[in-house]
Amino acid sequence: MKNKFSISILLAIFILNYSCGQDLKPLDQENKNTIVTDEVDYEMELVFENENIIWGIEFFDDNSILASVKSGSLFHYKNGIKTEINGLPEIYFRGQGGLLDIAIHPDFKENNLLYFSYASEENKGKGGNTTIARAKLIDNSLTDLEVLYKGSPETKKGQHFGGRLEFDNDNFLYFSIGDRGNRNVNPQDLTVDGGKIYRIKDDGTIPVDNPFYNSPNAKRAIYSYGHRNPQGMFKHPETGEIWTNEHGPRGGDEINIIQKGKNYGWPKITYGINYSGTTITKDKSLPNMEQPLYYWLPSIAPSSFEYISSEIYPNWKGSLLAGALVFKYIERIGIKNNKVISRSKIAEDLGRPRDVKQGPDGYIYVSIENKGVYKIIPSKKKIKVSKLNNHSIGKELYEDFCVRCHMTDGKGVKGAYPPLANADYLLNKRIESIKAVKYGLSGPIVVNGVNYNLNMENMGLDSQEIADVMNYILNSWGNKSEKSVTEKEVDEV
Ligand code: HEC
Repeated sequence: MKNKFSISILLAIFILNYSCGQDLKPLDQENKNTIVTDEVDYEMELVFENENIIWGIEFFDDNSILASVKSGSLFHYKNGIKTEINGLPEIYFRGQGGLLDIAIHPDFKENNLLYFSYASEENKGKGGNTTIARAKLIDNSLTDLEVLYKGSPETKKGQHFGGRLEFDNDNFLYFSIGDRGNRNVNPQDLTVDGGKIYRIKDDGTIPVDNPFYNSPNAKRAIYSYGHRNPQGMFKHPETGEIWTNEHGPRGGDEINIIQKGKNYGWPKITYGINYSGTTITKDKSLPNMEQPLYYWLPSIAPSSFEYISSEIYPNWKGSLLAGALVFKYIERIGIKNNKVISRSKIAEDLGRPRDVKQGPDGYIYVSIENKGVYKIIPSKKKIKVSKLNNHSIGKELYEDFCVRCHMTDGKGVKGAYPPLANADYLLNKRIESIKAVKYGLSGPIVVNGVNYNLNMENMGLDSQEIADVMNYILNSWGNKSEKSVTEKEVDEV
């Protein structure tokens, strides 16, 4: 089955108009409004179906997939065949708890070790908490199961188990436990679990350089605290840092880079409010508490987090992906110098995304609740080689690549996407305009007296295509240009 997503202009116009009615300050510190555009030119291809919730996906080197199902099963998908893995421990199913994430040891080839997180209960009827275990995966069975960490105290509350797992470059295992619904105690108290990011060695022992190793009564596995419910985590491929996103209260979802011993503030500081609309705290910042790298307003309810290092998707390299549970899309977050510069939607309305991962083949895979695992396939249209001044090809390119921001009538969106119709920038700064389309453009500019400060990415067009689209915009909506842009000119800027 293939679902083709194409541009939804009406929706884009609706969102843009909605944003413009307010004081438009997208992506700035206060983050009053953001503009989320639609990604186009890709297809969602179903890899395999699953009617339950696949909470975690992982890849072996041969690109076969290991999937953990929240209701308590684990299977391996290879060459069209699903094989169930036996030997899981007893799991506590309650609310958001069940079988959660999986992580394959970086040296799996030598040691066969698989790590997983799940909710477990020590004594029947007393509630449960997040648990981290490892086992050897041999011939589709788990053997030598060892519990490495068991969160406490037990609680019957059904929320905020955290549960994401990630290895860093030194084979330390990081994992999250959410606040378990006891926000006033757990996240700020180092003697109990919950509301923390943890760091342990691959054998479950605790590294002596953990920040609270020598603090009396502290849980020594804690690496950072003051978190709500971190459910997305990746290792940055260039810096080796652990990045998380955190399912926050209303308006308080966050992106954080995890630093040793730091307090991320929950619930003493937050940009969010209670779902009911009441205040949690008046403080958005306090001394010795970390500010998020970004927070979402409105909340997207992030479920997962991944870094795109793949070359397969034109322009997506270096950006982040997060599953947005409330809006049922995958959000691509453009990042530059650790600042969010753009946000866009992928696969809207396919369902609730639970995990998103780049496979060894460079493709991005997403598990969608009650549907299965999908692969994102770029589908850049083949465009015929054009002749000089070919306006029909220029128009086609404009519709494919530019219309979603600059609009059909070239008028753009005031304060967000600058106009091209009668635009002093386009008409007077020919070289800068060509450069903008060729290399992308960011930073503040002024067009027809209005300030713009969003980001336009390089769209991967070749010089001839850029010349064609430039000639189209230079001669549309009342624009008249005497001189055509040539392929050679674009080559040389
Ligand atoms: C995702 C939205 C987006 C898309 C798609 C996009 N642009 Fe832009 N464009 C912008 C933004 C935002 C700016 C201003 C950037 C800034 O503030 O520094 C801009 C600026 C420009 C400018 C310079 C300013 C002006 O008004 O003359 C030109 C020329 C331009 N775009 C042409 C194009 C063309 C041609 C395409 C398609 C090939 C395109 N853009 C696709 C968002 C977009």
